[in-house]
Amino acid sequence: MSMDFTDQRLSYEKGALDQTSIPESPFELLNAWMSEAIEQSVQEPYAMSLATCGADNKPSVRIVLLREITATGIVFYTNYESAKGQDIAENPNAEALFFWHELERQIRISGKIAKIDATKSAAYFQKRPHDSQVGAWVSQPQSGEVANREVMEEKFAQLQADYPENLAVPTPEFWGGYEITVEKIEFWQGRANRMHDRLVYVQDNNEGASTWTTKRLLP
Ligand SMILES: Cc1cc2nc3c(=O)[nH]c(=O)nc-3n(C[C@H](O)[C@H](O)[C@H](O)COP(=O)(O)O)c2cc1C
Repeated sequence: MSMDFTDQRLSYEKGALDQTSIPESPFELLNAWMSEAIEQSVQEPYAMSLATCGADNKPSVRIVLLREITATGIVFYTNYESAKGQDIAENPNAEALFFWHELERQIRISGKIAKIDATKSAAYFQKRPHDSQVGAWVSQPQSGEVANREVMEEKFAQLQADYPENLAVPTPEFWGGYEITVEKIEFWQGRANRMHDRLVYVQDNNEGASTWTTKRLLP
């Protein structure tokens, strides 16, 4: 059975992006777009597709939750021994993507990924709900095969018994944050007739000071 979508099309008309009125720093625009997405009730606007590629040259993509925009990049949390963790250990180049249908906007962020400071990861881990903390221990190694759901449920119940609500769950060494240090960000605003606005910020290659060049790209 096949499906055909060639007659499905939407005209994007909700906004525009003008190179003359964008801020110098892409972080300012990123924060502004994120705030607008939250105000306009986009569901989980901080959910992003993360693309990585290990030494096998086969790209993988999956959703992770953006947890922080820093002065230099974007942070998410995961299992360091997962498939994505393996990819990142072999190749630090990655790209993250947000698509907000309600605003007809897409943002692509690329750069190098590195683990964040373990103390910062631990602070965030300890802030998570108790059962999510337990879940992180159950899902070790994340992306590894498990015989069936019962195996997971039993491990979860055992860990809940070992660590009741009043007992802190230790922060796993295999779990923590990664930061993608931004090298390039592209902001995409859908327009009518496929004449979309695409503005890209590329970090200038100068040590120390952070400056950016912006370009308009053909849609
Ligand atoms: C909405 C949503 C949010 C998710 N957030 C995370 C996350 O923050 N961290 C994470 O490790 N996995 C998250 N996942 C699960 C990942 O998509 C993925 O299944 C998991 O990390 C294993 O990926 P890997 O095998 O490529 O390492 C999320 C999935 C969805 C659908």
